[in-house]
Amino acid sequence: MRKKIVAGNWKMNNTFQEAEELISVIAEDLDEKDIKCEVIICPPSIYLEMASDYGEESVLSISAQNVSGYDDGAYTGEISASMLEAMGINYSIVGHSERRKYFNETNDQLAKKVDRLLDNNMKPIFCIGEQLEERESGKQFEIVEDQLDKALFHLNKDEFSNVILAYEPVWAIGTGVVATPEQAQEMHGFIRGLLIKKYGNDVANETTILYGGSCNAKNAATLFANEDVDGGLIGGASLKSEDFVKIIESF
Ligand code: 13P
Repeated sequence: MRKKIVAGNWKMNNTFQEAEELISVIAEDLDEKDIKCEVIICPPSIYLEMASDYGEESVLSISAQNVSGYDDGAYTGEISASMLEAMGINYSIVGHSERRKYFNETNDQLAKKVDRLLDNNMKPIFCIGEQLEERESGKQFEIVEDQLDKALFHLNKDEFSNVILAYEPVWAIGTGVVATPEQAQEMHGFIRGLLIKKYGNDVANETTILYGGSCNAKNAATLFANEDVDGGLIGGASLKSEDFVKIIESF
């Protein structure tokens, strides 16, 4: 059975005090509940140490939002996979559309980031998804296939089995316009079909594919009810403990 996951991407939000309050309330709340999925918190990097302390005492796993494509050395401002791994962080988001858009991250760079994570026994949460114009012109499948092909399909079967995918249509991120359950299932099914072709049934069926983009406490259950939607990568709604916990309870 593939893993069900709900991950909260906090992006660049919250002071240290607010972040600590948020994670402590989530950890405490979940402690009393029978949770049916893995829960991952992705705080800004300067809060990772604080968050990983909470992770050790609770059901929460912790993820970085980004990682360097370089091993180590003179790369001012970068954080390496080995640094994260040494702090007990097991995951990093890679290829979020905001990093592709505002920081011009290319598929080649993203492939290197994935490689560094895998070299350090970490798991990438790899984001893919089309822009509005691309969907309107019917190119969404082509775009997603190209992103997978250029940044991930150099991996062999063993390597790929450590990858978590997140389908995040760019038009749904932070807009309040969520993909319909049919649109989500259609794309997730398409992605799993590509994985079957590339890596075979076993790997494809074990790969967790998350949905992200205006997922909230009200719509999570109908999205997660789809066969190929294995959970969510949550932005805005992960900043409110009550909403985030409700999303987790949607399984
Ligand atoms: P929203 O849930 O705020 O739309 O953001 C989704 C996202 O980008 C998660 O990575």
